[in-house]
Amino acid sequence: MIDAECYQYYEEFRQKVDARLASALHQRNPSSLYTPAEYILVSPGKRIRPVIVLFAALSNSTAVSGTLPVDLAVSVEMLHNFTLVHDDIMDNSDQRRGMPTLHKKYDLSTAILAGDALLALAYEFLLHDARENTHRIVQAFNKGLIEVCEGQSMDKDFEVRTDVTLDEYTIMIQKKTAAMVEMCCTIGAVYANHPEEVIASLAEYGRLIGIAFQIQDDLLDITADQAKLGKPTGADLLEGKKTYLFLRALQKATGAELESLNKVIAHKGVTKEEIPYYRDLYKTLGVLEDAGQLVHDYTNQALAKLQVLPSERDIALFTWLANSLLQRTK
Ligand code: IPE
Ligand code: IPE
Ligand code: MG
Ligand code: MG
Ligand code: MG
Repeated sequence: MIDAECYQYYEEFRQKVDARLASALHQRNPSSLYTPAEYILVSPGKRIRPVIVLFAALSNSTAVSGTLPVDLAVSVEMLHNFTLVHDDIMDNSDQRRGMPTLHKKYDLSTAILAGDALLALAYEFLLHDARENTHRIVQAFNKGLIEVCEGQSMDKDFEVRTDVTLDEYTIMIQKKTAAMVEMCCTIGAVYANHPEEVIASLAEYGRLIGIAFQIQDDLLDITADQAKLGKPTGADLLEGKKTYLFLRALQKATGAELESLNKVIAHKGVTKEEIPYYRDLYKTLGVLEDAGQLVHDYTNQALAKLQVLPSERDIALFTWLANSLLQRTK
């Protein structure tokens, strides 16, 4: 299958997810809760996670898209949106998907509660579709969520730590980001009644592209066009985040450059005016190339997991997805 056909699948599935998200919270009260929840839910996300669920659910069957588990897909997007709302509070972020973050648009209490509601709604939608293998699907979903919380906690711990290693970073991003992508593969594959070997390989694929995804997210924080990215660039530096770029720069720098990196740790972040200096430092040290290489390495490892899939179409879809993520600008 050629790339244009794979893109068509993505577009069709993304539209189904968007349509369901647009109506998901209709007729619910009070609007003080559901209007803010809907605000984040209908904002223009890439819908990578729900599309992965649908790709996995489609595989192993001749299912036409009319019978796809759209609510199962919507449930992971709700869960993801919950994590974004709380992440933006934790990261002091003012902008997401080109719009004010929920706590900026409304207030902190509203955002915390809208996040809580999205989490519960995610389970509601999950249960609409998980009628078979319910226990296993809920278990995988919940495991993914617990790992996100663990990863987010490590991410915050690392902000004030001076001795974070790249190995610790990898564990942290596996939990905060990759666990959820892995979960999307798992629940879609379980839904599709794949053999255990295929479920395990797809889960591994998800974990590996998830790791690549977060390293690239760190990279885009420095290299992206802010208008396209939809969130302010340099935000990780402002917050003193231990990103791949920062930790790799610490490994490579010496002398005055090392001193200026240590200053970021001591001051728990940089000022807005200092961002261009550190962007240049990352360029000089070659850590942007290192990150790009690592993203490719993890993607290639992920692609190697796809051979056990039973159909050429499914291998093509997941291959296209992993490769198109390499090109992303947001
Ligand atoms: C952002 O996820 C949070 C991370 C795990 C890096 P996405 O980049 O998938 O965000 P949306 O859903 O497309 O806005
Ligand atoms: C977020 O990581 C991972 C989540 C679990 C939401 P980031 O904090 O880097 O995500 P962005 O850059 O704000 O989207
Ligand atoms: Mg964060
Ligand atoms: Mg963030
Ligand atoms: Mg980020």
